[in-house]
Amino acid sequence: MIYLDQAATSWPKPPQVVQAITDCLTNGVANPGRGGYSLALESGRRVFEVREKIATFFGLEHSSNVIFTSSCTEALNIVFWGGLWEGDHVIVSSLEHNAVARTVETLRRRGLDASIVTCDPEHGVDSEDVVEAIRPNTKMMIWTHASNVFGTMFNLKTLGAIAKEYGIAFMVDSASTAGIFNINMEEMNIDYLACAGHKSLYGPQGIGLLLIRREIPLLEPWSSGGTGTNSDELEMPDALPERLEAGTLNTPGIIGLGAAFDFLQENGIKSIREHSLKLINDLHQKLLEIPNVTVYGPPLGMRRAPLISFNVGYQDSNWVALQLNRRWDIAVRSGLHCAPLAHRSGGTLENGTVRASVGYFNTQEEIDALVDAILQISRES
Ligand code: ALA
Repeated sequence: MIYLDQAATSWPKPPQVVQAITDCLTNGVANPGRGGYSLALESGRRVFEVREKIATFFGLEHSSNVIFTSSCTEALNIVFWGGLWEGDHVIVSSLEHNAVARTVETLRRRGLDASIVTCDPEHGVDSEDVVEAIRPNTKMMIWTHASNVFGTMFNLKTLGAIAKEYGIAFMVDSASTAGIFNINMEEMNIDYLACAGHKSLYGPQGIGLLLIRREIPLLEPWSSGGTGTNSDELEMPDALPERLEAGTLNTPGIIGLGAAFDFLQENGIKSIREHSLKLINDLHQKLLEIPNVTVYGPPLGMRRAPLISFNVGYQDSNWVALQLNRRWDIAVRSGLHCAPLAHRSGGTLENGTVRASVGYFNTQEEIDALVDAILQISRES
């Protein structure tokens, strides 16, 4: 199989990630923070070490502010449900994934006020439009770092500076960029950073991150349960990370993610990024040369995430993906990519798009195979 759906989940996983998880399941991990015997203490220590690695990687001062979640979606929800209340106003981009768009819609029904700033999938957003959306009751800006549909990137420094100037909290959805582009929470003034462990961070599915630089506002826990601390009290503890981590952690997932950060450090995210962008730019160039193919998103040469959306003539995007799968054993994602808001912005809501996304383990030969297959589909259409 030629796997070109890295934006949905990365595969294959680095050998050290597979090894770390296999070790956990073979040799055992205990429940971290839940026992005083050696294996429990050792498990707690290993989880702590992963928190430390992650905090350093994202420029976060306190590793206790690294919260392990089940997904990027859960990380975003923790902040939405724990920090925003009736009468608050939030600002989001029109390229958001449903992880943000649906949550905003649900909270709107409960009295949250929201503005969606129109963004252009080719060029992003005009800062003036962001500033214009700010109101006296604006509490938070929630922005994707890159569109998971078009690869359009936003300048986090610029957005962070706006949030700082107007005293607004800033949350970033880094599902499509963490591990590819440098994200420094301090330098970019990011208060809350939501990450998917299983995409460009190269960890397993089932592990996500919420990183908290400043709690503005203080987050109410959105779930309650055991933390291994303050067990005599019925309230959740005040201290992070326990306040936002009810229940047993996904310890094998966390240790696997820790190994993924080692992989990123060993290979360097710069070289991973350059490799991925070289492939995607080559694909972009070649798709532009195929008659009948429409490519969406940032123009060739412009900064982008390593993914590209396109259509072949008026063919249904799902049909094209099915052909690629059945005839060439190529895996790409099609349709709306859980981001109808973004497709509305790009004028592709009706048919969706075919999306190819690449990562460290993809090769030029795989890109060439996709180009040949699209050429063939285009000729037949
Ligand atoms: N949000 C993931 C994607 O873009 C699943 O495909």
